[in-house]
Amino acid sequence: MNTFPTWLEIDLSAVRSNSAQILKETGTALMAIVKGDAYGHGAVEVSRTALAGGASWLGVARYNEARALRQAGIRVPILVLGMVTPEEVDEAIAAQVTLTLHSPESLQLFSARALAAGQALRVHLKVDTGMGRLGVFAEETLPFARQALAAGGLEIDGIFSHLAAAEEPDNPFNNLQTRRFQSALQSLDQAGLHPRWVHLANSAAAFYLAETRHNLVRVGNVVLGLRIRIDQPLPAHYQAALTWKASLAACRRLPAGWGVGYGPAYITARDEWIGVVPVGYGDGLRRAPGNQVLIGGEKLPVLGRLCLDQCMVKLPRPYAPGEEVVIIGEQGDQSIWVHDLATLYQTSQVDISTHLHARLPRVFTGG
Ligand SMILES: Cc1ncc(COP(=O)(O)O)c(C=O)c1O
Repeated sequence: MNTFPTWLEIDLSAVRSNSAQILKETGTALMAIVKGDAYGHGAVEVSRTALAGGASWLGVARYNEARALRQAGIRVPILVLGMVTPEEVDEAIAAQVTLTLHSPESLQLFSARALAAGQALRVHLKVDTGMGRLGVFAEETLPFARQALAAGGLEIDGIFSHLAAAEEPDNPFNNLQTRRFQSALQSLDQAGLHPRWVHLANSAAAFYLAETRHNLVRVGNVVLGLRIRIDQPLPAHYQAALTWKASLAACRRLPAGWGVGYGPAYITARDEWIGVVPVGYGDGLRRAPGNQVLIGGEKLPVLGRLCLDQCMVKLPRPYAPGEEVVIIGEQGDQSIWVHDLATLYQTSQVDISTHLHARLPRVFTGG
């Protein structure tokens, strides 16, 4: 029997080789984006492995994610991409975590706290080139940078922006955003300001839009072997890191006319073999029609409605309890990947992987 009823396996050798491959293909430094617990894969382990694969930066959304990495002994530069609270600014200064300078209010806060601490705070200046999220407009960049330098306590170590449509390389919006970013860079350049790190590209841009690479790319999906677009395979040398497995809890012979699950939304038509799988919507599988799992190398349908912790599967033949069930991954020549679930639920891969619940043990292999 396996150690757990259900668990995630994270293949760290895939994370390492994907990271090394990204460096080779882009020719720039790599910031591994590990926010949201590395999209559900485990931030500390993925970070260490991406760094072993050649990444030199880590990117997170919130300060508590940076704190967890520092507490794990990770000393490399970390950029917090999102907002931070005043208390977190003080901690960031002490822990040498780089913050995103994105508004006049953040400028005031960061500068005041850095001056009070008597220690410089490193920031990356965020330009909103068309994402409509955090950042100052391109034409505000130079006055904003000057204000930051005049305020004191801040070291502008980088400048960045984020593309809204990079998965569609032909979308003219990419050009528009790239030009706006370029004009912000030029305005700084003409004033003699040259932030060390310039970054615009996520996974899609790093691969599809070479001109957006500058000297650092911020990559989440491809580090984990998740696709850039759910309808396009990655080149074969990139490998998916995530597998989700379970052990069959029970194999039941149910008589004709028996209910299966709540509703009951499924009633047996005849005597049927039903497998009970210890996986439910409380683990991150969606309570939506069309779910399948792999057992015995076959793709089998989940019947009726998912329970919180369990679901029932139609079996073509009896299996012993403990039989391997794959929810995400490969078995024989069949596979169900995160992009398949994203397609089924009409959402993004990261929406799937970040909802894999913390109660699912993460088992790291290939480390
Ligand atoms: C600012 C920023 N940069 C980079 C990324 C990484 O994107 P991807 O996982 O597509 O590489 C994200 C992810 O959402 C992001 O918000």
